[in-house]
Amino acid sequence: MSIETHVHRFIPGKEAGAPTLLLLHGTGGDENSLLPIAERVAHGAAMLGVRGNVSEYGSNRYFRRVAEGVFDIEDLIVRTHALADFVEAAAQRYQFALSSIIAVGYSNGANIAASTLLLRPGVIQRAVLYRAMMPLEPEQPPVLDETKVLMTAGAFDDLIPKASTQRLAEALRAAGAEVTLSWQNVDHRLTQEDLNAAQAWIAGLTNAAT
Ligand code: MLT
Repeated sequence: MSIETHVHRFIPGKEAGAPTLLLLHGTGGDENSLLPIAERVAHGAAMLGVRGNVSEYGSNRYFRRVAEGVFDIEDLIVRTHALADFVEAAAQRYQFALSSIIAVGYSNGANIAASTLLLRPGVIQRAVLYRAMMPLEPEQPPVLDETKVLMTAGAFDDLIPKASTQRLAEALRAAGAEVTLSWQNVDHRLTQEDLNAAQAWIAGLTNAAT
């Protein structure tokens, strides 16, 4: 396993025991895009920003799509395993426990985080998914008993079908995950409410762990 597979940026946490935020950007972002949000929702946490390996006309993504909202499933499966392998390698290299990871993904980044939950249970056990949809139906249903997920979705989001967001929440719950799904009267863009929700949810996790 190697950390060379993905361009990334690791920033150590400010105190021992701080969580590690795995930052997965939206289409067109990079390893730095979510750093300001991460700092806002979990000040002092370690940060691991990862750049998607696929270029769509120059925009970084984590997997290929055939059209908006229509994914290249074979590519998604391969890229999901590659990302999960990278995360495991990064945990060894930068000395953090997988259990300390909180994935924070937006849009395409939320979709690969969801796919990682479904295909590689155990790599990510905590996730904030902003504007996520069901990325694929796994052949084997995962077991996600130890997993907690916050999803915030936009009631006026033109890019993410509502039914698909609901299907994802349902699939994660059926697998045993504790899922909080919050609908807001917003579109695809992130708002202060999204950040406030993640901050409160992460604070709740950290308090529960101490
Ligand atoms: C995706 O391709 O993952 C979703 O359609 C969201 C996006 O536009 O990136």
